[in-house]
Amino acid sequence: SWTTGNVIEEQVEAIREMVGDKRAICGLSGGVDSAVAAALVQKAIGSQLTCVYVDHGLMRKGETEQVEKDFVAATGVQLKVVDAEERFLAALKGVSDPEEKRKIIGREFIRVFEQAQAEIVADEGPAVEFLVQGTLYPDVVESGGGTGTANIKSHHNVGGLPEDLEFKLIEPLRKLFKDEVRMVGQELGLPEEIVHRQPFPGPGLGIRIVGEVTKERLDLLREADAIAREELTAAGLDRDIWQCPVVLLADVRSVGVQGDGRTYGHPIVLRPVSSEDAMTADWSRLPYDVLARISTRITNEVRDVNRVVLDVTSKPPGTIEWE
Ligand code: XMP
Repeated sequence: SWTTGNVIEEQVEAIREMVGDKRAICGLSGGVDSAVAAALVQKAIGSQLTCVYVDHGLMRKGETEQVEKDFVAATGVQLKVVDAEERFLAALKGVSDPEEKRKIIGREFIRVFEQAQAEIVADEGPAVEFLVQGTLYPDVVESGGGTGTANIKSHHNVGGLPEDLEFKLIEPLRKLFKDEVRMVGQELGLPEEIVHRQPFPGPGLGIRIVGEVTKERLDLLREADAIAREELTAAGLDRDIWQCPVVLLADVRSVGVQGDGRTYGHPIVLRPVSSEDAMTADWSRLPYDVLARISTRITNEVRDVNRVVLDVTSKPPGTIEWE
């Protein structure tokens, strides 16, 4: 019968056998899947694994610290953090188009990851032969795989890695669903905040600023987002909602009256949604008092924001993210 204990034991043994005395790397995104996959592989091969976390400066408040401190504390994993904020902001300068933003962020991410992994190879002895990925069963099925039971396969040029390097993939979560992954993560001792993390897009806050992405705008949005998350958590609503994107309408300005007089600032959008799988979603009917607290705090505490609006659109027609 299926238990998290069995899954862990089985995988640890299989991974040890597979890797032998070679080395592996794993990209951490801050999300649940890569965290659990990394923790599992770390349990199996310890310091033969190096994790790479690319901080693109588009993270939410506290997120990088969570990976740097909490994840490392819980797993003892060897972590390479790459501070790439300036590089990403430079690449995004002057860009407002959502698809263009996504392409730039994806491209820069691969370049930075590539560079980091080349440094790891150069720094240390034996070659890195394995790449850990947090692929889940639904991912396997969706991409038309899922025929064999093997959890390892050779792969060329994974995620844009250098073409002359061939990695073997370790995908220890390949047979699991999301709720099972969370259970495994819990059993491995990962903190609640990581195990029960709501989905967050790879391009981060870069696609939650309608308009050009700048450091100042990111800082505003980070504040507003932190307030919304704090209040939703305090109200005990984290498990009721799927996620709640907070969006800065940087290209829109609105008139307000704050403190001593008239302001001309920006609206913030709250986009709380309920969903099973993000393919469809409904807007969450959050309690008015919670919405009121979020709105009051954001307009009081976040400079340049004088209006908070609620997105009451289902998916379809509206996607969950604004960009
Ligand atoms: P949409 O906006 O398409 O989002 O309704 C569906 C779900 O996917 C997340 N999302 C992303 N996740 N990289 C990711 O890892 C991305 O580029 C990306 N874009 C959207 C979104 O947060 C929602 O959970």
